[in-house]
Amino acid sequence: MNDLQAKRRVLSGMRPTGRLHLGNYMGALYNWVRLQDQYDCFFFIADWHALTTDYANPGDVWQKSHDVALDFLAAGLDPERCVMFRQSDVLQHAELNLLFGNLTPLGWLERVPTYKDQQEQLREKDLATYGFLGYPLLQSADILLYKPAFVPVGQDQVAHVELTREVARRFNQLYSSAVTPEVAAAKSDKELMKAEVSENLIELAILPEPKVLLTPSPKLPGLDGRKMSKSYGNTIALTESEADVRKKLKTMVTDPARVRRTDPGDPDVCPVGDLHKVFSSPETMAKVYEGCRSAGIGCIECKGWAADSIVREIAPIAARRAEYEAQPEKVEQILTEGAARARSVAEATMREVRVAMGLARASH
Ligand code: TRP
Ligand code: SF4
Repeated sequence: MNDLQAKRRVLSGMRPTGRLHLGNYMGALYNWVRLQDQYDCFFFIADWHALTTDYANPGDVWQKSHDVALDFLAAGLDPERCVMFRQSDVLQHAELNLLFGNLTPLGWLERVPTYKDQQEQLREKDLATYGFLGYPLLQSADILLYKPAFVPVGQDQVAHVELTREVARRFNQLYSSAVTPEVAAAKSDKELMKAEVSENLIELAILPEPKVLLTPSPKLPGLDGRKMSKSYGNTIALTESEADVRKKLKTMVTDPARVRRTDPGDPDVCPVGDLHKVFSSPETMAKVYEGCRSAGIGCIECKGWAADSIVREIAPIAARRAEYEAQPEKVEQILTEGAARARSVAEATMREVRVAMGLARASH
């Protein structure tokens, strides 16, 4: 690909939960790292989003964001090949969120499935707030500011990208200008989309509708066999030391049918088997299936192999994290430079949006 064939843009964000675990990595970051060469990538730490649920006890959001940035870099996001930044460093996210608030019907937000689900699941928090209802709209602003072609997310975020598409459509219907074909041709670059051709006029969509890029996100089991999640306290950190990976795996639950060493088991119903499927080679997998089903191997041996596979994947990540940990100013500098690049794209969109909504005059 040469410079003339501009790469299509991808944007995604992650809440700052502090140090990432293997489930966060396989669900998002692993995929992002692989998108860097193919697309013009923007990845950000959604620190404002943390407050939509944790406003009462935010903790040190700054530090948690810094830790996520360390894991981004450790996992292989490369500031030379992608733009990475903190959301709160780019105030245009807040401005677009505010403007969107005027044109978004309440019902659209009330109908987002996570709205009621999360309120029920997080009963200890009072989530009957404006910010919590509105966070998918903030996410729409996060996305549309950059006019990405694709938003790589897991299944749980698809509804939010759908809302984003609806918001873009409504915005374009309300504010897009109709221009003559000549003007359209002159303006025609990858951002401008022909929405509709009517008589001699062409509608130019200001905010193109992005598509979901559904990334494979294997459900990683945690040590207790439930989904790996910080709130269950069953995680293996992305940068866990080798000794701790081995120690943690020893405590992991296995196929309950294997009570004694001589009982055969089934890797398909064993959480350790699920880890093998994600991290182990086909050769190791074959040994696991054969040995487990014939009771030829013990669970301790099998867990040792799983630990080997995990350590092989994460050892280089831990090493890179240690390098960046020693230079926190460099990490912050990467985020500052990323924010400057993000801001220039976001501000260009905002200039169009302000003009379209009648808040500013087009400057020539
Ligand atoms: N809501 C997303 C999550 O909880 C994080 C997020 C915020 C995001 N803004 C985004 C993801 C924009 C993609 C695009 O995981
Ligand atoms: Fe699970 Fe491995 Fe034990 Fe089989 S041998 S039950 S796959 S830990």
